[in-house]
Amino acid sequence: MPVERVTPTLDALERRGDAIRMGRGLWVLRDFERLVERGDFVGPSEFNERFSRETGVALGTYSGPITFRSNEELPVHRWWPYVQGYSAEFVAGELDRSEVGRGTTVLDPFAGSGTTLVEARRAGGRAWGTELLAPAVLAARVKTDFELPPAELGRTAGRVLARARARAPGAPPFLRETARQFTPAALAELTRLRDALPPVGSPAADAVRLAFGRILIPSSRLHRSPCLGYRRGSEPSGVAPFAAFEAAVTEMAADLATLRASRRNWGPPATVDRRDARRGGWPSESVDLAVTSPPYVNGMDYVMNYKVDLAWLGDVRSYAELAALRRAEVACDNLPRAETAPYLATEGAPDPWLGEILPRIRENVHRKGTYRRDDVHAVVHRYFADLVPVLVEVRRALRPGGRFVLVVGDSLLAGTYVPGDLLLARLGARAGLEIESVEVARRRRSGQRRSFELRESVVTLTKPRGGGRRRPFPRSGAAPKSSLPVHGNP
Ligand SMILES: C[S@@+](CC[C@H](N)C(=O)[O-])C[C@H]1O[C@@H](n2cnc3c(N)ncnc32)[C@H](O)[C@@H]1O
Repeated sequence: MPVERVTPTLDALERRGDAIRMGRGLWVLRDFERLVERGDFVGPSEFNERFSRETGVALGTYSGPITFRSNEELPVHRWWPYVQGYSAEFVAGELDRSEVGRGTTVLDPFAGSGTTLVEARRAGGRAWGTELLAPAVLAARVKTDFELPPAELGRTAGRVLARARARAPGAPPFLRETARQFTPAALAELTRLRDALPPVGSPAADAVRLAFGRILIPSSRLHRSPCLGYRRGSEPSGVAPFAAFEAAVTEMAADLATLRASRRNWGPPATVDRRDARRGGWPSESVDLAVTSPPYVNGMDYVMNYKVDLAWLGDVRSYAELAALRRAEVACDNLPRAETAPYLATEGAPDPWLGEILPRIRENVHRKGTYRRDDVHAVVHRYFADLVPVLVEVRRALRPGGRFVLVVGDSLLAGTYVPGDLLLARLGARAGLEIESVEVARRRRSGQRRSFELRESVVTLTKPRGGGRRRPFPRSGAAPKSSLPVHGNP
């Protein structure tokens, strides 16, 4: 629809009572509300009950902070506020429960900003992560480089600022909206700072790049809440870049100094690979504990949300490169149709529950005829197909008795409930892991229907001791004999 028709159309839909405004920029067709009330709607309680019956595991409760918010005041974790991250306290609890210390190895296949890796190293373990989003990789690497002398960071940052002050403004990055995203004054300071950064490679150079990356959104007209969007006209238009850069570096140097007090406990330097977790490849039986939070079903488009950081840090240089990165990330709602085309068939999904859920999504989208895309079920299908090889590979990498702990949410899509947490637990069982527990950690609201309560859960899977695979679901006969299909055309 041409842009100029969008607002009048939304207004007309709202006047007729066919659409409800949920918040700024978010509208929901009223029929999706009604879909949830349909007689054939299968909700959380039905799935919970079936899950307990089939696996023998009843849902429990995890208490304690789970979101990244609690990290915002914590030394080191606060260096790169990652809305999609989880709490350091949660990770520390898991490390404790699995007795991580010297000589143990902790893996995070979707390492994000490195919350797991920082805590694992602090606890004395060997920390290992894979992550695709370059700014997150940078954050994880810098945050786990505890050895960087604070004075060296201060000197490097001082030289950057001196060079930046002496230079003329440079060219903006390739993003079309840059001039709208920043005031001319902020743009001038940011391009001068960027062009004054030292070449990548040394720990101090990486740390000042992170400090620069961190100030991009605060000094723009944008915010992440959690998606990237413009601030309201009334909100302040951002902090001054030179001052913000200086403040970021001062905080980092102070945290590095504090960290030194515990240096005798640190594990060996962490490894953070910029790599597709779906490819696995971690050595067999080398990992004692894996803790992670994968993207959520049909959730965040990380590439769109971090395009400003990716472009300014020089990690991507064109829209084609942004698109290529999106194709490598676990499936989200913005994948091009060519990527979801092999997943249009609902047969061959990696779990029988998906055999019920995918056709329901397809039917509801068809019934409405106006959903954002008509292949949502294929996005969901591809999402789970993307995670299967990670489950299989982490199982191979774990030592017998080792745990794989995942924080993941459920979803409501096109009026269809998708129990992402229970599905991942089931897929883990099919991959040869045992379901130890599923604990609900937090309630959250559905974007499609505010009154519908979604959740975020901690799923704990264990690699059985004593080799051989067990039947995935001891209490029901529904388990297939063959192992799972790995990533690729289903
Ligand atoms: C929920 S976030 C993890 C946040 C992390 N727990 C933290 O505290 O910072 C999920 C991460 O998975 C990454 N990701 C998505 N697809 C990936 C893939 N195929 N390989 C590696 N990482 C991927 C995203 O870039 C994102 O950073």
